[in-house]
Amino acid sequence: MSDVLVLDNVSKSYPSPDGGRLQILSGVSLRVREGEIVSIQGRSGSGKSTLLYAAALLSDIDDGRICILGKDASSMSERDREAIRRDGIGFVFQSSLLLSDFTALENVAMPLLIQGKDRKSAYEKAERMLSLLDLSDRAGHRPDSLSGGERQRTAIARALSSSPRLIFADEPTGSLDEKSAEIVEKMLLSAARSTGAALIYVTHNPDFASRADRSLHLSEGKLSDV
Ligand SMILES: Nc1ncnc2c1ncn2[C@@H]1O[C@H](COP(=O)(O)OP(=O)(O)OP(=O)(O)O)[C@@H](O)[C@H]1O
Ligand SMILES: [Mg+2]
Repeated sequence: MSDVLVLDNVSKSYPSPDGGRLQILSGVSLRVREGEIVSIQGRSGSGKSTLLYAAALLSDIDDGRICILGKDASSMSERDREAIRRDGIGFVFQSSLLLSDFTALENVAMPLLIQGKDRKSAYEKAERMLSLLDLSDRAGHRPDSLSGGERQRTAIARALSSSPRLIFADEPTGSLDEKSAEIVEKMLLSAARSTGAALIYVTHNPDFASRADRSLHLSEGKLSDV
């Protein structure tokens, strides 16, 4: 099986208010295989979101190499990066960032319409994804009339709708109560398994983390096995 994501010695720092640099990632290496599920834990501020955003080509790195779906990010044009983000990657954020004027179904269909799919097939696919996340009876609801858990499940359906081979989820259940979190966790894992997408997720919950194929820990700018 091939690697869908390779990070090789990735480093990233931010400017600090005193004029220096704050080193967040200092040589992170990671290989994720097709369909593999990987969890990342680490204390608040350790750089988990920074790592996910960099790996998903949503931010730049200082040093090292990122390969996504067999392509080296450093040799991609901005157009290539956009195409990979649109067609190859799904991202689930801690708060769902759904479009408030659109229904759950429209939110899930949106990435497909942006991809240029025709309306009929986009909406059919969106209906299938909502059904996979057990949301068929909420398809017509706008985000403000969905529960927190339903919003996160809609966000997961949206991230999966374009059939990405790689999904990132940054504390997808961080804003939910324990019961809703458990439902969303189960559904995220089963949706990834059933679509065959690789999944890399960040969580503070050790039980949720342990359900991945592989659990990693980020500390002092480096990843290690749990
Ligand atoms: N744009 C930025 N400029 C400067 N510092 C930043 C910036 N973004 C993040 N940081 C700092 O980088 C560190 C890592 O942030 P990051 O959001 O990656 O942590 P995290 O592990 O995801 O934490 P949490 O579990 O709280 O979400 C933090 O100390 C944060 O203050
Ligand atoms: Mg974070």
